[in-house]
Amino acid sequence: MSRTVYVNGEYLPEAAAKVSVFDRGFLFADAVYEVTAVVNSKLVDFAGHYARLVRSCGELGLTLAVDENGLREIHQRLIVENALQEGGIYLQLTRGNSGDRDFHFPPASTPPTLVLFTQARAVVDHPAASKGIRVVTCPDIRWQRRDIKTVQLLAPCLAKAFAEAQGADDAFLVENGYITEGSSCNCYIVQDDNTVVTRPLSNSILHGITRKALVKLAEEHGVTIEERLFTPEEARNAREVFISSATTFVWPVIAVDGQTIGDGKPGPITQLLRRIYLQML
Ligand code: PDD
Repeated sequence: MSRTVYVNGEYLPEAAAKVSVFDRGFLFADAVYEVTAVVNSKLVDFAGHYARLVRSCGELGLTLAVDENGLREIHQRLIVENALQEGGIYLQLTRGNSGDRDFHFPPASTPPTLVLFTQARAVVDHPAASKGIRVVTCPDIRWQRRDIKTVQLLAPCLAKAFAEAQGADDAFLVENGYITEGSSCNCYIVQDDNTVVTRPLSNSILHGITRKALVKLAEEHGVTIEERLFTPEEARNAREVFISSATTFVWPVIAVDGQTIGDGKPGPITQLLRRIYLQML
């Protein structure tokens, strides 16, 4: 079924939606994005995604010409137009088209390009949520501002291809001997005392909106979160390992680098956190 997508103020059939070959998102990855989950045709934590988008734009001097309510309305209209029940909405904002390829930023008056489209997929009952996923570790070759949600995603694509080539589902990225995050998710390990360990916020990782909600929910439910660096070896030997993102919420990891985690089944803390996250929706 052809989707209706949003491009710069217009709602168009996907085949009719066009962006210039001179768009800086296409030429330079000069663009930021967000992915907001949709469950029961409702946006999940839209305010959090909007706040992070504003921050990403601020860090790069990109103009976001639409306010929170305006952007929420665009998301909601796409949900209605596409009868989206479950999945996500992808948003990309670029520095626009200055009519040629030129490294220098175009005049501030250049209109940005704003594109949004829906993606229908299972989120609540995804098989990986009950079966878990297998991950492998690989070097984190991304740039140093991973806190900004830019569309420079070749390194994560290469990491996923590396994982697939080894029969795994995803990759955990490693820098200076420590796991930064997953190719498109935040990572957690559970220690023997049931403490959940996750890397602290910095420019080295994306400040996950799901992570933020989980940290708060965990604390409300008596689960201790310790924010510190952890190594691949700690992950391989952890009692439980899990990931979070807007497209997965919480997924168990049942193997790291071929080493089975626990008994190879989703662990109780992981299941508890997924359950309380779903209850909050
Ligand atoms: N990715 N870290 C990275 C590198 C990510 O790409 C993502 C999300 C996250 C989790 O952030 P959040 O909880 O706000 O989704 C962490 C999205 C889902 C994507 O690229 O499709």
